[in-house]
Amino acid sequence: MNQNSLLRIRDLSKDELMGILKDAQLFGVSKKDWQLPQKKLIANLFFEPSTRTHFSFASAEHQLGCMVENFSAQGSSVEKGESLYDTVKTFESIGYEAVVIRHPKDEYFTELNDISIPILNAGDGAGNHPTQCLLDLLTIYQEFGTFKDIRMAIIGDISHSRVASSNKEAMEMLGGTCVFSGPKEWQREGYPYMDIDEAIETADVVMMLRIQHERHASMMQMSKEEYLQKFGLTIERAAKMKPHAIIMHPAPVNRNVEIDTSLVEAPNSRIFKQMSNGVLVRKAVVKRAFGAQF
Ligand code: CP
Repeated sequence: MNQNSLLRIRDLSKDELMGILKDAQLFGVSKKDWQLPQKKLIANLFFEPSTRTHFSFASAEHQLGCMVENFSAQGSSVEKGESLYDTVKTFESIGYEAVVIRHPKDEYFTELNDISIPILNAGDGAGNHPTQCLLDLLTIYQEFGTFKDIRMAIIGDISHSRVASSNKEAMEMLGGTCVFSGPKEWQREGYPYMDIDEAIETADVVMMLRIQHERHASMMQMSKEEYLQKFGLTIERAAKMKPHAIIMHPAPVNRNVEIDTSLVEAPNSRIFKQMSNGVLVRKAVVKRAFGAQF
């Protein structure tokens, strides 16, 4: 595996993680249109749907001067039974210098140890979503200037969420805390749970998660209205947040299910800021993948 790959948050040291955030911040403030010293050929391989991750990677790559190709399994030789390994090995063999991969299998990259080009994980099943976590961290850092003693409440479909696990690892590494809330059926063993009202009222960051219908074997028998009242961020709950606390959500948002639609663009919501930060973070990880220096 290439050492400039980014697969999981826990593979990064604290210094490496902070280095990526520092580069992302520089991309945010720099007036200069910084590009990689050499043109690089990169492919975005998405085996699952995506809007934000896919197209913010593509935007980042274009801004860095990469030559970019976008692959979807549909219409490719995956439909003839080609394996993930053979697909990625093919991209390597025909000259691609890095790949971004989203795949439904948890830790799909364990099958790719013999691939030499950098692999940037754009989400693996219910496992990891390192670049989402990094853009969440950048958003928190811009707000509070620190992670120490910042309390993040992650609420909703925790068991299927790669965002929840990646953020828990990162916040613990950086001196913050994560607490969790949501339906009992979707809890994860070993994660600290609390009542939703207490979680929201005591948090600096309230991170709502959507119900990942595509990963559920059976559907929860509850209407959208009932879910919002029991487990969602309602206007009444939002009014009890700490004065400085912010609302986050990795998106896509199911408006009026996990969050009242009027809160998505409320003054204390950073949901669209997270998306803008996604481009900055992905520029930083593409720069790192190619070992480039400012
Ligand atoms: N947050 C996130 O991963 O969104 P997409 O599924 O649209 O990439």
